[in-house]
Formats: sequence, structure tokens, C-alpha cells
Amino acid sequence: MGDNKWSQLWLDYEAKKGAAKNAEEDKLKIDFEGFDPENRVIKSAVKELNKAFTDTDKKIVISFVRNDEIKKEGYSACGVIGGSDNRKVDADTTELVVSSSDENGALYGAFHIIRSKLMGEDLSCLCATKAPSNPLRMMNHWDNMDGSIERGYSGRSFFYENDDIVINERTVDYARLMASIGINGVVINNVNVKWAASDLITTRFFDKVKELSDIFGDYGIKLYLSLNFASPIEIGGLSICDPLDKEVIEWWKNKIKEVYEHLPELGGFLVKADSEGRPGPFTYGRTQADGANMLGDIIAPYGGIIIWRCFVYNCTQDWRDTKTDRARAGYDYFKGLDGEYHDNVILQIKNGPMDFQIREPISPLIGGLTRTNQMLEVQIAQEYTGHQIDLCYLIPMFKEILEFKTYCAEENDTVADVVSGRTMGNSLAGMAAVINTGNDYNWTGNDLAAANLYGFGRLAYDTDLDSEEIAREWVKLTFNLEKELEDKLVDMLLNSREIYEKYTSPLGIGWMVTPGDHYGPSVDGYEYSRWGTYHRADHLGLGVDRTDKGTGYAQQYYPENAQMYNDPKTCPENLLLFFHHIPYTWKLKSGQSLIQYIYDVHFEGYSKAQELLESWKSFEGKVPERTYNCVMHRFEMQVNNAHEWCDQVNSYFYRKSGIPDEKNRPIY
Ligand code: GCU
Repeated sequence: MGDNKWSQLWLDYEAKKGAAKNAEEDKLKIDFEGFDPENRVIKSAVKELNKAFTDTDKKIVISFVRNDEIKKEGYSACGVIGGSDNRKVDADTTELVVSSSDENGALYGAFHIIRSKLMGEDLSCLCATKAPSNPLRMMNHWDNMDGSIERGYSGRSFFYENDDIVINERTVDYARLMASIGINGVVINNVNVKWAASDLITTRFFDKVKELSDIFGDYGIKLYLSLNFASPIEIGGLSICDPLDKEVIEWWKNKIKEVYEHLPELGGFLVKADSEGRPGPFTYGRTQADGANMLGDIIAPYGGIIIWRCFVYNCTQDWRDTKTDRARAGYDYFKGLDGEYHDNVILQIKNGPMDFQIREPISPLIGGLTRTNQMLEVQIAQEYTGHQIDLCYLIPMFKEILEFKTYCAEENDTVADVVSGRTMGNSLAGMAAVINTGNDYNWTGNDLAAANLYGFGRLAYDTDLDSEEIAREWVKLTFNLEKELEDKLVDMLLNSREIYEKYTSPLGIGWMVTPGDHYGPSVDGYEYSRWGTYHRADHLGLGVDRTDKGTGYAQQYYPENAQMYNDPKTCPENLLLFFHHIPYTWKLKSGQSLIQYIYDVHFEGYSKAQELLESWKSFEGKVPERTYNCVMHRFEMQVNNAHEWCDQVNSYFYRKSGIPDEKNRPIY
């Protein structure tokens, strides 16, 4: 959009406007039955429709109708050809009825109509009934108040600058974008709460946080804050933060009362405790449940919730110790406390037991807990998946995660069932993503990474959508491409995760990244470190033995999965090295040896990365120049990255194993 400092992403109405660009606005009429037109969320819906429909050459009537039979935050949006009986309209008018039982549903219905319009669908034929799969659909920002973003690859924060909160038109656009994909909760600060961020729950920032909360509230989004567990010490002047200490509890009571006086609509807090140097209940010999329940009980009268992260592990491991296994840690720390967490506490669990690698098994804690509210955490910030330089459309990975059968119940036992609340019938459940945005013009560094932002929201709202459908929607909404190029871009997105996996770390082994930064290869970068992230390669083979003869991690799953993973013959090959230490001469199902597979897959991944770049060339002149150039530059970097990965991994394993490539390709 012209000289704006940020793009409108999939809500770029101007770019989509057709012939009737300057049509009069009053062609659109909006009616209400059972909804207050002055309600803040309804007002946003109306504002949005007015913006989106300025180019209509036909008359359109949109009626918002309250219908209590529709599920919470759900809607039906249907075209009524020629007008309905009770609302007589002319034949040249398209009438659309949005029914919902609440304002958020009405807003999502409005966005559904807008989406359909932007994709060029015939609105009079529209008929969709939707209800969110997940009650909580959240974005977690890892933004720091100095403006930096932990694992941010798209510029600086648009929420903070110089230890202060920034509020402008972009904040509103952010809320619109999030609401348009069904997000209903946003955590605005990094889980590592330090320095000025500890003051977000003090008078220093209340006014501005309230302003943010109001902007979000207009779009049906609740604001949440990450909390510093050591606040009683850092801002309260106490000497301890023991969750069972009377004085500490008293301090929290007063603090949370004060917080809710200023921020009455606050959703609650997200807490990273006892993890990677963050304070927590362990310091005082207390459990994770002690910490979470203390806060949960205090916040309960205000309707708030505590989202407690399960990313707790020993990050000062000795690499010589092969019995301690970081993958086990979440389950070991939390499973024993199942059932002890109070009703307004949710455990937020990363999709895998390690840390957002390109492929990991599903955390056995999901579904392993059967009496605890739980929520899935994924990362669309591409920390380990190419820093939003390399193309990596993550929705297929999220689909695999959601479809995984945990065996935690006779039925409704997939991850999607567990985290949506279907398995246990609980309503505090859902999905959260560590977000990939920053203040870059295109929000996500690489224009194509916005597919993950869009896709996460759409998927969290409707876990039945498939990856291709989501990709196609995003492509259609974002660009104006002929069918052939649209198909091409959808294919590029759909293949990108496997391409990335091919040239990086094979068969579920993960890591092998540059320490600290996590972009680019460094096969031994973490091998002798304290982080518990090892490949254990020697001259005979590689992989981590997590079977009953090794660390016993495989036994954390229900028996069906435990047995499958425990045996290298039944373990899915794409996770073989996660669970087993395998000789280089091991024959894979394809007949290739493990070492030959490593060589082949890396050469293939590198060559596929080159193909992506070549494919992108056909988009020149077909997408905005700015997008073309930005993405092109990134594909060039991706090709270099893939080249380094390919040659370093192949050379490393050739040198370890001494086994040459059957095809005699260059290995160093
Ligand atoms: C990863 C990441 C950290 C982050 C942590 C977390 O380890 O590298 O930057 O703080 O996850 O999820 O808390």
C-alpha cells in the first residue's frame, strides 16, 4: 500500500480492488438482530466490512443475527439468493447473514466474508458454518522492552522501543490481522522476563498496557503478560519468592489485585519458571504445581488464568553423561504432578521433547497428562528452521503433530483432541505459537514466512483444514497470480519443510546448528556443550539410544508408541536417529545404507534449494517488486546455507566413517 511503512499482508483490500474501485460506500448495508451495533467488537466488524467492500458494484446487505445455538466464537455465514423472506431485498442485491452466539463469532464471520470476497468467490453462494477447534488460540511474543526480539528475524519489536511501549496505527493493524485469522489471545512480552519487562505489572506501564489491552479488546483478543516468578524479589523488595511463603503469597495477592484494578480485562499470565536460568519454585524445594497453583488461586477471583510452561530441563548437563536425557525432562518433572494443578492453570507444552527442531517426536507429556489442562506450543519464529531466510512452511509439521495418536484414551486421543479439550472435556485448552513478526515492512522478514503466521491462526481455529488449503488461501489473499503460478507457489510452500530437513540434520537427530545463533551448520557445535543436545556420532554410527537399553525415553509413551519407537525396525525412519544409535552400514527400507542416505539426502536437499530459487524467478513482474527482490535475496542466502550444510554434514560423516560416497560426488 503506497507509502505505508508496513504491509497489510492478507488484508490488503486496495491491492485486490477491481473495476468498481471508486464505487460509493453506501452500496453496503449492515443490519443487526440481537447484536448491539455499539458493541466494540461489532463496531470493528462493521469497520472492516466497510473498508473491504468499498469497490462493490452490487448492493450488499449483511445481517448480523444472534443465534444462541451456534457454538462459542463460531459462526455461520451464508448468502441468501434474492433475499430472505423476512428481509425483503431487491433482486440485484446480495444478502448475507452472519449468525453467531457472541461478538467474536460475528467478527470471525465478517472476516470469513471478507476472505471469500478477496478470493473472488461468489458471495451469494457462500454457506459456511464454523466453530473453533481450540478454545485458546494464542500468539506468544518474545519481544523485549529494549526493542530487541529473542529469536526475532523480522526487524525490531513493534511493541517496544527504548524500554517503553509503542502504540500506533500498526498496533491496530496487528490486532486486525490477528483477529482475521481467529487469534483470541496475545502474550506481549518475552517469556524471559528481565529488566524493564518486570515493571509491566507496575504503575510505570499500566496506562500503556491498558491502551494495548483496549485495542486488542476491540478485536476480541485478550492481552496476557509473561510473568517474572521472582517479582517479589525484583520489584517487591522481598528476599525470596518461595511460593509457599506467607509473605510472598501476601505480596502476590496485593500485586494481582493492583494489576486487575488497572487491567481489568487481562487474560492472565504466562510463566517460564526453573528453566534456562529463570527463577522458579525449585529454588525453594517446591514443585511446579506449588508455583502454578499459588498464582492460579490468587488470580482466580479475577477470572484470570496461569499458563505454566513445561520447558524445564537441566541445561548444565555434562556431555559425558549418557544417562541424563534432556528429552525425558518435561515428562519426568510434570507427569508425577498430573491432577494436582488447579482448574485455572494450563500447562503449555512444546510440540517436541527438545526444542522446535525440524523433526522431533511428539512430547510424551501431551496426552501423558490425563487430568491436567494442557496447551500445545509451536514456534513459527524459525529459530531452528531457517530464520525466515530459508523457506520453511511449517503447517504440514503442525498437522502431523495434531494428528499424532497418543493412545491416551479409547477415542479422541490425538494431540488435536487433547489440546482442544475434547479428550478430557475441559475448556482451558488450545494452541500457542511463538510468533515470527517484527517491524519489517513485510512483518515476517521473508514475505513467504507470512504463510506460517496466517496458517497458524487458521489451523488453530480449524484443525481440520489441510496444509494445502491453508497455503492456497494465503497465496490467493496475498498475491494476484494466474492459476499456474498460484499452483507453483503452493507447491514450493508444501515441499519446503522437507527440503529444509533434507539438507540439514537427518532422520530426527536435530541440532548440528551454530551454537547460540542457530542458523547454519556446526555439526559438533553442541556436541560437547551443557545443553543436552548431542548426536553421539563415532566412527561406527550415530544417533542417541533412547530405548529401554538407553535413556528409556521411548518408555514415556503409551505402550503402542513405546514399542514402536523402541525397535529400530518399527521406529518411523524419519525419527530413527532420535531413538537409536545406528551403524553407518545399517540398511534403510529403501535398501540404501545409512551413510549413503546421509550423502544422498544432503545433495538432494541442496539441489532442491537451488530449484526453489529457480522457481522463484518465474514470479518476477507477477508479485510486487519489493516482495520479489526480498524473497529472491533470501533464496540466494538459502542456497548458500544449503550448500554449507550439505558439504559440512557430508564431509563430517565421511571423515568419521571413512566410507566413500557410492556416486563419487565431491566430499571434503
Ligand atoms: C529456546 C530458545 C530460547 C528460549 C527458549 C524458551 O531454547 O533458544 O531463546 O528462551 O527456547 O522456549 O524459553
